[in-house]
Amino acid sequence: MDNSKEIAATLIRGDGIGPEIMDASLRVLDALGAPFRWQEQTAGIAALKAHGDPLPTPVIESIRKTKLALKGPLTTPVGAGFRSVNVRLREAFKLFANVRPARTYFPGGRYEDIDIILIRENTEGLYVGVEHVIPIDDDPRAVAEASGIITRFGCRRIAQFAFNYAVSHGRKKITIVHKANILKMLTGLFLETAQDVGKEYAGRVEVEERIVDNCAMQLVLNPQQFDMILTTNMFGDILSDEIAGLVGGLGLAPGCNIGADAAIFEAVHGSAPDIAGQGIANPSALLLASAMMLDYVGEGERAKRLRSALYRALHEDRIWTKDLGGVTSTRDFASAVITRL
Ligand code: NAI
Ligand code: MG
Repeated sequence: MDNSKEIAATLIRGDGIGPEIMDASLRVLDALGAPFRWQEQTAGIAALKAHGDPLPTPVIESIRKTKLALKGPLTTPVGAGFRSVNVRLREAFKLFANVRPARTYFPGGRYEDIDIILIRENTEGLYVGVEHVIPIDDDPRAVAEASGIITRFGCRRIAQFAFNYAVSHGRKKITIVHKANILKMLTGLFLETAQDVGKEYAGRVEVEERIVDNCAMQLVLNPQQFDMILTTNMFGDILSDEIAGLVGGLGLAPGCNIGADAAIFEAVHGSAPDIAGQGIANPSALLLASAMMLDYVGEGERAKRLRSALYRALHEDRIWTKDLGGVTSTRDFASAVITRL
């Protein structure tokens, strides 16, 4: 490989099935001749044990330098008291855009020919963590209150990102999803600002809007009507899992967190402790995230080769891991993709 083309990138294997699916993905990326020079860093449970912090400073410093990372899932133990590493990374690098594409790769999914890209605002709304409880009499948690915070700045930033993404990826239509009939101010500001940004793209990208509950139903009835969805943090969280379900589940759903200061590519799923260490996890989601990462660094040709090898393995040759109803191991699945590159 021409060393001058090497691109430094941070690598986090992650917890649970993370090391298994990362090993599979690295083998495929190597076979492709992907130009990444990996800076491996430890985060998650292993880092917690070694350094007392699941997100040690060297990880942050590495990403600050490379501005690029491929990351396995990280466990957030319930009740253990430390904040989600994923949320900390989003804050540290202002990763305001979450891009979650869903495409039919697998013939056993509920629908054929799905190709939807969901863009989720990643930093505002009801996920800002401004919440508290109010005690009344002898009930310390008699009332719970949470504030959703949305800014015009944040809405413009994510809307501009989405419309630019549509133009640069040849997408035709953006559906703005909201609940402005009820949350008139909170998601009303999102709708109004996104529509304003949409006007700047008139003639290039078609704009429509849907109320979130109707959108959820339409996704089940007629998902092919959607091209791109642009929505707020919580609606995006929920709808992206629904959309993953349309194409065969979490094992096939990649995602990317993009911000002004960095881009972090990962699978949508978590560390899957129930199957960790068994060698049966589906590496497709992380492979698709790797393809997104290749696109992001201008390696579109290699991204295309990766996606079509994956498509051939899954769709034409029906090589499936257990979650899809097959018997192929993580390792053998990666080998099958490599022989089809
Ligand atoms: P999960 O996504 O890890 O697992 C949900 C179900 O899907 C499990 O039955 C699992 O076996 C299955 N599954 C997930 N990925 C799979 C794959 N590649 N192949 C085959 N089957 C797969 O969600 P869960 O159990 O709620 O979370 C486990 C841990 O992961 C938690 O600590 C959670 O906080 C963390 N998590 C981390 C994320 C990240 O790092 N981005 C995202 C979501 C959860
Ligand atoms: Mg989620």
